[in-house]
Amino acid sequence: MKSFEYNVYTHMYVGSDFYDQIPVELAKYGKNVLFIYGGGSIKRNGLYDKVISELGGFNVIELSGIEPNPRIEKVREGVEICKTHNIDVLLPVGGGSTVDTAKAIAAGAKYDGDAWDFFSRGPEHKAVGDSLPIVDVLTLAATGTEMNRNAVVSNLGTQEKYGLGGETLLPKASFLDPVNTFTVSKYQTAAGSADILSHLMENFFKRTTGADVQDFVNIALQKAVIKNAYIALVTPEDYDARANLLWASSLALGGIPAGGKPGAWTCHAIEHELSAFYDITHGVGLAIITPRFLNHIIKKDKTATAKIAEYARGVFDINEADDTLAALKGIQLQYETFKKWGIPMTLQEVGIDGKKLREMSEHAVKHGNLEHGDSFVSLTADDVEAILVDSLTESEFH
Ligand code: NZQ
Ligand code: ZN
Repeated sequence: MKSFEYNVYTHMYVGSDFYDQIPVELAKYGKNVLFIYGGGSIKRNGLYDKVISELGGFNVIELSGIEPNPRIEKVREGVEICKTHNIDVLLPVGGGSTVDTAKAIAAGAKYDGDAWDFFSRGPEHKAVGDSLPIVDVLTLAATGTEMNRNAVVSNLGTQEKYGLGGETLLPKASFLDPVNTFTVSKYQTAAGSADILSHLMENFFKRTTGADVQDFVNIALQKAVIKNAYIALVTPEDYDARANLLWASSLALGGIPAGGKPGAWTCHAIEHELSAFYDITHGVGLAIITPRFLNHIIKKDKTATAKIAEYARGVFDINEADDTLAALKGIQLQYETFKKWGIPMTLQEVGIDGKKLREMSEHAVKHGNLEHGDSFVSLTADDVEAILVDSLTESEFH
């Protein structure tokens, strides 16, 4: 295990009993609140009214219409509002896209240049400095943004989708009411659950050895996600299933599985290219890529095979002594799990053909530092292209 720091100070409110704490948390930072939300799901399920009824003593300005794979244009709009109206605190109410938009606005509001500078990989790139505080109400179990320092924003004009990390961007408080996630569609429930699993797998598949605490917690979280995602898909209003998914979302990216295990995230680097070029749902892209990625690296690296076998035995209770066979059985079960959840498991089904695979592969290797960085198995553009070609059509792993 490598050296690491762990300081996750977000006040997490998990349950249905805490709405009266929203004004208490906001009041710590001031009276001027920017209330940010997406395309209207919070109006349809009544959450908007519930939150507004708690904001009596505040000056509230709204910014709505945040789209999935959130856009830099909305960030710029939000930064302008913050500067004009002296906003003290941001209140995103929604999924990861809404919270990530708030994070980018929070950083941009304290910066003189364009907020895209934080995301850009060019010479204009800037590190996040000071930012406005964030108190969020999360409505979708997926990204872990509610308890981490990251945000991901797209610039569809330049076909770029990048993440940033900033010390000051960890939300001050996050409200996770499982009831708010009853209305998440089957498609988004499956995609969000796949995203949580992917965060766990990205943390699990690292070169660092000897991090048993992280890896044992990781396996337990993956088992909990697989069990509860299925329950939530069949019974969307199962409180405990939704609560388990939300809490797993926070813990998967909240520092415990990642601590002491540095290294690049391969499947996310590849998926962000798919989203940037084709605007697909993040968790669906990850579900499609991950089994093909694992299958590909088995052929490249024996160490990888042993770790995938450990994953297969831990998550799917596979009783198989041979590492390669255990690993392949695990990959097949992972693929079947995503299929059972109703995720379209080929690129073709989500509207991606072979035309831009090379371009996306080169971007992923360059921007994700997959060839010369510290990723689990080093990948060239040819490797990534082979993974994407495998992802075009149905697969079987044995
Ligand atoms: O916009 P509304 O109307 O709210 O509808 C949303 C949206 O259409 C809907 N939804 C959310 N909560 C709902 C609901 N519908 C009914 N009931 C509810 N309670 O779901 C759709 C998707 O929402 P979105 O916020 O885009 O989903 P998600 O939370 O999966 O966020 C995805 C974004 O986060 C980024 C992804 O790349 C993607 O851009 N990520 C952020 C990370 C981070 N900050 O740490 C890490 C992740 O790896 C990821 O990259
Ligand atoms: Zn993700």
